Amino acid sequence: MYSETYDRLIARSYDDFYAIVRDPSGDAGFYRELARESGGPVLELGCGTGRVLLPIAREGISCVGVDASPEMLKVFRDKAPPPNLTLVEGRMQTLDLGEQRFRLITCPFRAFSHLLDVADQLAALARIRHHLAPGGAFALDVFDPKLDRLAARFEPESLAVTFQHEGHEIRRWDSSTRDHTRQVLTVHFRFEGGPPEMSGTTHMDLRWFYRYELEHLLFRAGFTEVSFYGGFDRRPWAAFGETIVVAR
Ligand SMILES: C[S@@+](CC[C@H](N)C(=O)[O-])C[C@H]1O[C@@H](n2cnc3c(N)ncnc32)[C@H](O)[C@@H]1O
Repeated sequence: MYSETYDRLIARSYDDFYAIVRDPSGDAGFYRELARESGGPVLELGCGTGRVLLPIAREGISCVGVDASPEMLKVFRDKAPPPNLTLVEGRMQTLDLGEQRFRLITCPFRAFSHLLDVADQLAALARIRHHLAPGGAFALDVFDPKLDRLAARFEPESLAVTFQHEGHEIRRWDSSTRDHTRQVLTVHFRFEGGPPEMSGTTHMDLRWFYRYELEHLLFRAGFTEVSFYGGFDRRPWAAFGETIVVAR
């Protein structure tokens, strides 16, 4: 279960290490711009600690954030989000927000990659279409697999990031294994240097998507207009980088 993975070790230090390894991508600015263009309301699936959604909500745009992990949501709630933001614990595959419809639905930073099989991916896309307002957009990003690395079944441990957390210098070491049959990458994290509750190991599974596979999947789910970008500055899509998609 991904919620358990995020609950254990990751939730409390998530913002500390992704400020270093993810914020420079410019993803938060890209989704904020889409939110402004849409005028809201905005629904983020896999909103985590609010790294992307909280700045949007703070602009006064009506927002709902959904996440499967209670601990990630607790970190988000502790940031005292504004009253125009609602947080819901749940899985995107079974999401039911009643009559609510959204001009923009987002799934930033590979949250969609946690849907490991086609049944879960299609279930989530059906819930997304159900919750989209007429003319609304669904935006997500996943990674495009680097083929030289993809060939390896196992990648040995290396230092992924060193970060500060409540006065401790913590190191996160990553290793990975791949199941080529299922297109599933398992990343093993080992945290060291923190207090006992912040040290130890966990892992997460990520489904890798090929660009045309994702395009077919979105059309199969009923989207009719699908744009691909290769960076959060909206550059044209190119292999081995980010795969960013806006679908209507
Ligand atoms: C890499 S984090 C991204 C968090 C946030 N979107 C960001 O950009 O910082 C992925 C998030 O997706 C959540 N998640 C994983 N599977 C999910 C599912 N099936 N439904 C809803 N949330 C899920 C995890 O709990 C985690 O908070």
